[in-house]
Amino acid sequence: MRATRAFLKTMDEWPLSQAATNFLVGSEFGHVIEGEVVASASGETMALYDPATGLEFARCAAGGVEDVDRAVRSARQAFEDGRWRNLDAQEKERRLRRLSVLLGQSRDLLSDLDVLDGGVVQAYSAFIVQFGIDTVDYYSGWPTKLHGSMPAAPHDVVVQQVREPVGVCAVISPWNGPSAAPCGIVPALACGNSVVLKPAEQTPLTAIVVAKLCLEAGIPPGVVNVVHGVGEIVGAALVAHPQVDAISFTGSGETGRRIQAAAAPTLKRLSMELGGKSPQIVFDDADLDAAAATITGAAWGHSGQVCTAGTRVLIQRGIHDELVAAMVEKSRSIKIGSGFRADTQMGPLISQEQLDRVSRYVGLGRAEGAHVALGGARQGDAGYFHQPTIFTGVDNRMTIAREEIFGPVMSVIPFDTEEEAIAIANDTEYGLAAGVWTRDLSRAHRASQALRVGTVWVNTYQRVNPSIPYGGVKQSGYGRSLGAASIDHYTELKSVWLKIR
Ligand code: NAI
Ligand code: MG
Repeated sequence: MRATRAFLKTMDEWPLSQAATNFLVGSEFGHVIEGEVVASASGETMALYDPATGLEFARCAAGGVEDVDRAVRSARQAFEDGRWRNLDAQEKERRLRRLSVLLGQSRDLLSDLDVLDGGVVQAYSAFIVQFGIDTVDYYSGWPTKLHGSMPAAPHDVVVQQVREPVGVCAVISPWNGPSAAPCGIVPALACGNSVVLKPAEQTPLTAIVVAKLCLEAGIPPGVVNVVHGVGEIVGAALVAHPQVDAISFTGSGETGRRIQAAAAPTLKRLSMELGGKSPQIVFDDADLDAAAATITGAAWGHSGQVCTAGTRVLIQRGIHDELVAAMVEKSRSIKIGSGFRADTQMGPLISQEQLDRVSRYVGLGRAEGAHVALGGARQGDAGYFHQPTIFTGVDNRMTIAREEIFGPVMSVIPFDTEEEAIAIANDTEYGLAAGVWTRDLSRAHRASQALRVGTVWVNTYQRVNPSIPYGGVKQSGYGRSLGAASIDHYTELKSVWLKIR
């Protein structure tokens, strides 16, 4: 359940921080249940791969139904006996603030682990780690501000509207932002809930670190549990478990739909953050330098494996050739490689499966008649690298414009009028986000009103902040995370009627 011998021999080749080296040599990669790092009941493990080399570097516990049941019972017991829920709000805040400090002291460790199992580049992992810290900072202020209210009521009664935690909350995470784990669990904790986190099977390591830091910060054992393993077993067992009250899922639409169906018998509260096919609409009055830089950044960031990646670039015909040329120029010299090399700008895809998926879509784009203006092939023959790829002459009906590819593939679609641009942008089953590039204020507002998405960015893209709600509409999911929206998701309102004699 630790780093493999072969990996330890080659570890000198990676510029790992001392903290990461110590973790890899000295830690068990197990579930975290009732405050203990434990192996699976069955003893089963799963391989972890470095996406930059394709080599197995460690094995981690792979859970089953029994491990899920242990973790859920631990979380339920912690919730029922109130060891966290009934702690004074001030004390909850103190401990969450301590968690933020500890996360800050573990930056190198978290960042290195993201690079190692997630294939993330350092700039991106640093951003994710910081976003996790910012989110803990934000929610650490909530416990003392949570309050109920007294709604208008008949004069012979007093009614209190009380806000209470939901109970045991399961968080099922994807592999594309592993160190963002605190963002998933801290809103639930701030409301007094207990949590079972199921990290993606490709990227389980940072969850172990975060769970240990929660303990060190004084969040009692059993309040934050982690169970590793494949989704079809561990995720499915969490969804089916009668003692789990709520599920927060981030991942593919296909799995989201499966979870929604599987959650029906136990009527769980769900929130779904699914994928997207987000449009970037560039009008002919836009700042083209800014647009070219931001749009390419948002398409190649984490090799396109980001749910808000702006993969459909709609360009007004008069500036089409100029903007495409600028984007090709900016993307041509991108340095592709392992995140452990300081000058790397784009890392690998997460897995062979993901590389195959991207290659299949690039083949489909060619077959459907789109033109490859840049890239179009995998890079090298070791690791899961793919070139940044720009398709021009794309019709919005083509498969590459309709399905989430989740790789560094951009589809450029020309348009003539504003109405046409909005129609194309909304002609998708997804509704996560959109970008609008224009200097015309009225047009910016018109477009923002007309776009059916959860987030519109005007003259910027992919900005996130813990106080600003985030999520999608249509097949991109429902429910909002971050800001006060997460507080609503993780609390129930209870009405208490008291008759006045
Ligand atoms: P996935 O949606 O299947 O996996 C996400 C999480 O759900 C993982 O923790 C996984 O173990 C879990 N899971 C899988 N099946 C489950 C089930 N039946 N019940 C409960 N939990 C389950 O995503 P996957 O297979 O890793 O990637 C496939 C595609 O999904 C990608 O190519 C990409 O297009 C999309 N995706 C989108 C993400 C986003 O943020 N929008 C994130 C990850 C994947
Ligand atoms: Mg899957």
